[in-house]
Parts: sequence; C-alpha cells; structure tokens
Amino acid sequence: MTGPPNQPPSREPVRVLVLGGGLIGLAIAHQLARRGRRVQVLSRRRSEAAGFVAAGMLAPHAEGLGGAMLALGQASLARIPAWVKQIEADSGLACGLRPCGIVVPFRSSAERDAYPTAAWGEPLGRASLEREVPGIGPSWQAGLLFSQDGQIDNRRQLMRALERACVGMGVSFQEGDEVLALERSGDGALAGVRLRTAAGEEQGLPAEQAVLACGAWSARLLGELPVFPVKGQMLSLQAPRQALQRVIFGPGTYLVPRTDGLLVVGATSEPEAGFSEGLSPAGQRQLQEGLEALLPEAASWPPMERWWGFRPCTPDQGPLLGESGIPGLWLATGHHRNGVLLAAITAQLLAGVISGSAKAENKALLEPWGLGRFQS
Ligand code: GLY
Repeated sequence: MTGPPNQPPSREPVRVLVLGGGLIGLAIAHQLARRGRRVQVLSRRRSEAAGFVAAGMLAPHAEGLGGAMLALGQASLARIPAWVKQIEADSGLACGLRPCGIVVPFRSSAERDAYPTAAWGEPLGRASLEREVPGIGPSWQAGLLFSQDGQIDNRRQLMRALERACVGMGVSFQEGDEVLALERSGDGALAGVRLRTAAGEEQGLPAEQAVLACGAWSARLLGELPVFPVKGQMLSLQAPRQALQRVIFGPGTYLVPRTDGLLVVGATSEPEAGFSEGLSPAGQRQLQEGLEALLPEAASWPPMERWWGFRPCTPDQGPLLGESGIPGLWLATGHHRNGVLLAAITAQLLAGVISGSAKAENKALLEPWGLGRFQS
C-alpha cells in the first residue's frame, strides 16, 4: 500500500492481547496503549481479580522483603507517584494514593531489631509507638516506622481509574470472555487464543502477541507455570475518621485506614484452601482476634463488608515476568502478596520489553523473575 505523497504508508499498530483484566493486566494494557500499541483485554470476571480484593498496601519494607524482591518493590514504590499521576491525568479520576507510612509493631525490641528490613525503618519504643498508633494494644512494646511505605485505594479508586485511563487510550475490553487455550503456529510461536464468549460461543482470536496476566488462574492456560492460589479473607469496619493515620502491619493481621475512616482488615493466608470460595468462621475469627490485639477499641466499630480472594503464588513467592518460552507470549503473574505494590514496575518492565524500548537497568530488574528459575 502506498500513502499520500511525502508521507509514510499508514500501518495498523500491532495488536497485543492482554489475558486477564485484573490490576496487572490493566496496568500493562495502559502502558502499552501509551506506547502506541493496539490493546485488547480479555477477562472472564473482573470482580474476582486480586486487585479488587487486596488492601492496597505499598509495603516493600513493612512486608520485610529481601534481596531481589526488595529491589523490585523499592523500584516500584519509587515509580508509583509518577504512575498514579499518569493514570489520574488519563482518566480524570483520583487513585487514592496515600503515603501515610506503615508501623510494624513487635512484642520486644529484640524482635524489632531482627526484622529483615529493620535498617530501613525508624525504631520505636513503647512511648513512640503509642504516639504513632494511639490505642495500640498493650502487648506491643516496640515498633518500626516505615514512613516511605503507604497505601492506595485499589478497590474503590485505582481499579476504576485505570480502567477509565485504558478506555481513554483506546484499549478495548471483552468482559465475560473466558480464554480456554493458547493457539500456536507450526513453529511453536503464539498464533492466538481460543475463547468462550459471554454468549457461550467458542471461537478463535488470532494474535501474535499476548500477555498472560491471569493471576491465580494462570496455570490453567499454561500448565507449566508453577502458580497456585493462596486464599485471603478480609473485612472492613467504619472507624472514626481520624482514628488511625498510619497503616499497622501486625503478624497475621494488618489495618489499612482510608481517608474517609473505612478500615480494611487483612488477611488470612490459606494455601491449603485451593480455589474453595467463601468465608470461613476460622478465618474471620483470626482477623477479629488480630484486630482486637492490635487495636482493642476497634472491637466496637461497626462492621462494613467481608470478602475473600486468591493471591497468585509461585514456589519462591516471587512473580513470573517476561518471556514465556513461547515466542509472542509474555508472562506477568505470580505477584502473591505484592500485586498492588508491583503493578507500576511490572507495567513499565513488560511494556518496555514488548515494545522493544526497555532500558538496560529495567532489563536487569526483570532478570531474576523469569520462568527459567523453576525449570533447571
Ligand atoms: N499484601 C498483603 C496480603 O497479601 O495480604
């Protein structure tokens, strides 16, 4: 085809399918669209995505990450303010980013000083702990304040803003379509996907490039992926508006206060539950006991919601990012407890390698997270 005189021939941008409409899929779709790619997101049921379930902590230090995971988490934390600004500009909606700091309480100063990320935090004794978290339970004698960590309102704000930003950038969505299988060409490269539409019809969708971002369900599409579900149950309460300024990250339970007083309480960690749906009395009891041990007065705050979901976990609890071994298919899954934190860097790294514009330092960040580490 020839274009008008003195102009390059017009060319359809290459289409990339994003398999999975959760936070990671949307974040990648958005960055690809910003780089001029034509993007189509396929998702079976967006409401079950871990991005809607999580509490939205941005907590590489409070979670006690180490080694390459800490480096990846810190790189993402550093990128989040600019990433959020982009999403807010592209969507016209606020994302609810709150750099409020996170306090990790301990029963003794010895426990505090042995915490893997202690060097990144400000050590607190009982008096300063009480100043940071008024009303904290009597069993906590020490703490670490990570003022660089924070939270984002993933459930009510970020997911919606990101979806709106994607639509604004021309990303198309097929909600209700279940991807049943990957299709390969004679040379083994990706040729497309087979899907069942919301209307129940099976059909093929050709594509030479796709990103597998199916969260806990990833191994259903590519059996060799060592990704399994780790169920988490959560609840929320309505606290007095200014009751809590910091996130509190206790052992087994954390409290995430939104600006309007909603207090998100998480989370159980139940690998043995598989994909079994629903709340359990034991899980809810664990959260209630953890809540009361951290903040006794919270026992009298009115309950709001209870919910559950499935974290996508790998054997070393790190994500699977980058090439899949199938030319044209990229991986972005397995983020386990850190999907909200890692969405920003995951989107930047994946969009960079898919569009061939990744910088050397970003390739180095990706390096530890390939599928190859589970194959030798
Ligand atoms: N990041 C906290 C959790 O997964 O429960």
